[in-house]
Amino acid sequence: MRTWIVAGNWKMNNTIAEAVALAKAIKDGTATLKRGEVILAPPFTSLQSVSQTINDSRVALAAQNMHQEEKGAFTGEVSPVMLKDCGCTHVIIGHSERRKYFHEKDADVNLKVKKALACGLKPIMCVGETEEEREKNVTRAVVGRQVKEGLRGVEKINNVVIAYEPVWAIGTGKVATSAQAQEVHSFIRVILKDLFGDGAASNTRILYGGSVTKDNIGELIAMEDIDGALVGGASLKADGFLGIIKNIAEKK
Ligand code: 13P
Repeated sequence: MRTWIVAGNWKMNNTIAEAVALAKAIKDGTATLKRGEVILAPPFTSLQSVSQTINDSRVALAAQNMHQEEKGAFTGEVSPVMLKDCGCTHVIIGHSERRKYFHEKDADVNLKVKKALACGLKPIMCVGETEEEREKNVTRAVVGRQVKEGLRGVEKINNVVIAYEPVWAIGTGKVATSAQAQEVHSFIRVILKDLFGDGAASNTRILYGGSVTKDNIGELIAMEDIDGALVGGASLKADGFLGIIKNIAEKK
C-alpha cells in the first residue's frame, strides 16, 4: 500500500519570516494527521529556519534543486551535503523550470538523482511533456525518455519519488484531466516495472503536479496510480495547501 505525499514547491517565493509563518501554519494544520507525508520545499535561504519550525512534526523538508558534487569550486551552487546539514530529507530534481530556464538535461538530472541517493537524500524527480509535445502525440516518448534517462544506473528505486508535471499545466490553471494524468502515471509505472520489477514499481509514489488546487485534487487523487501532488501556487497559502492535504487524506 503506497502512502500518499503532498509536497509544496514554493519556487522563488517567501522571505524567511514569511516562510516560517507558512511552515508553522502547515505544521499546526497537519498535527492530527494519521498517515501520509507532507513535504515543504522553500528556497535555499529559508531551509534552515523552516527546518527549525517543523522540527518534531510530521512535515518534512525538501530543497528545490542541488548540485551533483559534494563540494568544490562551483560558485553559486549548493551541495547535497549542505542540504542535509539544513535538515532536508528530500530534493526536487529536474523540475521543468530548471530544464527550461537553466538548460538542465536528462543527463544532469541523472547525475543529481544518483548523487542525492548516494548522500541519503530522497529525490523527487520531475518529468513531463510540453504542450507542443502533447499536440504532436509524443507524450509517451518524452516522458518515457525522461524516466529512463533520469534513472539510468540507479539500482534501487525505493527512495525515489516521481512527479509527473505536464509543462502546459504548470502555473497556467489548465489542470490535466484525471484521465490524462492517470494514463501517463500508469505508463510511468509500466516503465518502472521494466526497469526495477513489479514490487518496486508498485511501491513507488508517483505525484501529479500542475495547477493543483483543493477544488480539483479530489478527482485526480481518486485515480489508481496518482499517489499525491506536487503543488506550486496553491502551496503558498496555508488554507489552500491544507485543503489539498485534507482532500487527499479523506480519499487515500
Ligand atoms: P503550479 O501548482 O503553480 O501549477 O506549479 C506546479 C509545479 O511546478 C510544482 O512543482
